[in-house]
Amino acid sequence: MIKIPEFVKNLKPYQAGKLIEELAREKNLKRIVKLASNENPLGPSLKALEAIKEALPRLNRYTDSTSYETVQAIALKYNVQPQHIICGHGTDSLLAYIINAFTMENDEILTSEGTFIGIYVNARKFGRKVVKVPLKDYAIDLPKILKNISDKTKMIYLANPNNPTGTMFGYREFEAFMAKVPDHILVILDEAYTTYASANPDYPNGVHYEYENMVVTRTLSKAYGLGGLRIGFAVGPDEVINALYKVKLPFEPNLLAQKAAVAALNDDEFLKRTIELNQTSLKMMKAKFEQLGIKQVPTMANFILLLMPDEQFAQNLYQGCLNKGLIVRHVKSFGIPNGIRINSGTVEETEFALDIIEKVYLKLKNKYQLILKG
Ligand SMILES: Cc1ncc(COP(=O)(O)O)c(C=O)c1O
Repeated sequence: MIKIPEFVKNLKPYQAGKLIEELAREKNLKRIVKLASNENPLGPSLKALEAIKEALPRLNRYTDSTSYETVQAIALKYNVQPQHIICGHGTDSLLAYIINAFTMENDEILTSEGTFIGIYVNARKFGRKVVKVPLKDYAIDLPKILKNISDKTKMIYLANPNNPTGTMFGYREFEAFMAKVPDHILVILDEAYTTYASANPDYPNGVHYEYENMVVTRTLSKAYGLGGLRIGFAVGPDEVINALYKVKLPFEPNLLAQKAAVAALNDDEFLKRTIELNQTSLKMMKAKFEQLGIKQVPTMANFILLLMPDEQFAQNLYQGCLNKGLIVRHVKSFGIPNGIRINSGTVEETEFALDIIEKVYLKLKNKYQLILKG
């Protein structure tokens, strides 16, 4: 009989935000809006779609395993040496490669509680222990992370802005942190939401640092609108990037992803509209949540973390919204059991979502108050 290693038996498959198609199969709803996976509500850039169409007749060919054109486009856009860049099937894939290439059995990965679930899932896949430091006021606590470095720490994972809290650490804090991290520990700086935060003068733009023990990951799944295609990249020193090329699946990312990425990276007008829409939608949301008295964590990304009185309330709000055709994310699995995360949408989607949340929230609040009164 085949024997499955104990750590694989104990794994739980990644639970992504609920799919629109899935909810449509389950319920007979007129309209469904999904604001649960921090996707771009504008859809993909039309330039990316055009590039995909042009590339389709070449699908019989294997892809360029070095993503030459995409790497050149990234190098040009961010002023980074091409040899310091590697592309993969999204940040998720790159995180797996980073853990694969730089950790061994018994090495530990140090990170925060209440951060991107992908790091927990990828670490467990390799049987690596994750040490989690509590958040401080819903933000990543860099000084506390430093204090928790041990002989076994091999890697530190930080998301900036953080998902699901939307908080950001500034460059002074970050540089003070890096100055104290021993250089045998690799720091992963996950900048999935950089587009939404980089206008802030305090934002430490990771790709512009040259630490020998840091690798920065970026994705085209969020602001660039290509979540379904799977493409992201990592920027780091030669030694790190060379090691990642050794563990990467050779033909990843696929041809369409590589071509679409080049077009999307150069579509400045699309990115501008994305940022503007995000601001508009978040403004509408913040005003409504404030009016309803829902606690919200100040965000630097394209989503807001809402804090419910407890886990049951959050679960009920999530379910109540689902019943009416709105998909948001209950972030219990990220380590925030009373948290609901909602991302920005089009103006129409935002109006639809806020209307549903208002109805569900007020109903639940009344019920809750009745229970509290006993
Ligand atoms: C912080 C962070 N990193 C990475 C990802 C995943 O990126 P990708 O789609 O490139 O795997 C997400 C998606 O939710 C995220 O929030």
